[in-house]
Amino acid sequence: MSVATLEISRKPSVFPPEERAALEPLIQEIEQLKAERNAVITAHNYMTPDIYYGVADMVGDSLALAQMAARSDAEVILMAGVHFMAETSKIINPDATVLIPDLRAGCSLAEGITGADVRRLKELHPGTPVVSYVNTSAEVKAESDICCTSGNAAAVVESLGSERVIFLPDGFLGRYVASQTDVEVILWEGRCIVHERFSGKELTALRRQLPLIPVIAHPECAPDVLDQADFVGSTHGIVNWVRENRPSQVMMLTECSMADNVAYELDDVEIVRPCNLCPHMKRITLDNIKTSLLTMTHEVVLDPGVAVRARRAVERMLEVGRS
Ligand code: 13P
Ligand code: SF4
Repeated sequence: MSVATLEISRKPSVFPPEERAALEPLIQEIEQLKAERNAVITAHNYMTPDIYYGVADMVGDSLALAQMAARSDAEVILMAGVHFMAETSKIINPDATVLIPDLRAGCSLAEGITGADVRRLKELHPGTPVVSYVNTSAEVKAESDICCTSGNAAAVVESLGSERVIFLPDGFLGRYVASQTDVEVILWEGRCIVHERFSGKELTALRRQLPLIPVIAHPECAPDVLDQADFVGSTHGIVNWVRENRPSQVMMLTECSMADNVAYELDDVEIVRPCNLCPHMKRITLDNIKTSLLTMTHEVVLDPGVAVRARRAVERMLEVGRS
């Protein structure tokens, strides 16, 4: 794969040299395996710094990961992220062998809805297009008209030109999208177990203590949190906001390894982070990345009929791009 042609936001120089030295033997083993397998590691922004700065070839939010998979000509794509992200890579790049180092790396949103649920919703609202967040299984994507991510949800909803859409599975993201468009949004009440823990009440109290601090939040947070945020965006949007605005202090309401990654890169920015970790993302480690490349497990295998239908929904989303 032509890694050089892709955006690589990894900056090895920002990883503290003494920490890097301790990890170096393992990182070198992984690099060697990557070369032998013609493999790339695509990593979500929530990966821990050793993965993010140590071995990832490309890092980004869910939309960037899907775009990278679509452009990749590597034989093997190892997803340092959760299962739906690996499935999305396989859907969009069926010729690649897609690996996920731990099959238990799931997602509460993806697990909260099935293909049968979507079929029932379509029966209840005939003719209404279905927009599914990429945090869904391939089976759910296959039942959907189009996918979206937190980086393009409102644009995707508007791209359909429909007065109403079914939006699933994240009820908080769906409400946020509804607040950004005139389209009527029929919701499914799924939740992210990480972002639902941020509370509007606690944020109000924190803002009283730090009245001038900008608050940036992921749209999987509850409406009473988002109402108080100065910026709402995908993980990519959040990183970019901090890079561009360079506040001396910022409160980041999302998964907390991402704050670690940003703090390494921008050491002039103090990040206040009520620390919520995603237990699924944290299943991916340098050790199981090495094992995955060594044993070529766990390979993502999709039902061909499901994959073809899911691909239409993902491709349609990629045509909309980032908003
Ligand atoms: P992003 O697409 O914003 O990276 O979000 C993915 C996710 O799972 C957030 O919890
Ligand atoms: Fe799923 Fe939430 Fe974890 Fe993201 S942070 S992968 S939405 S459980």
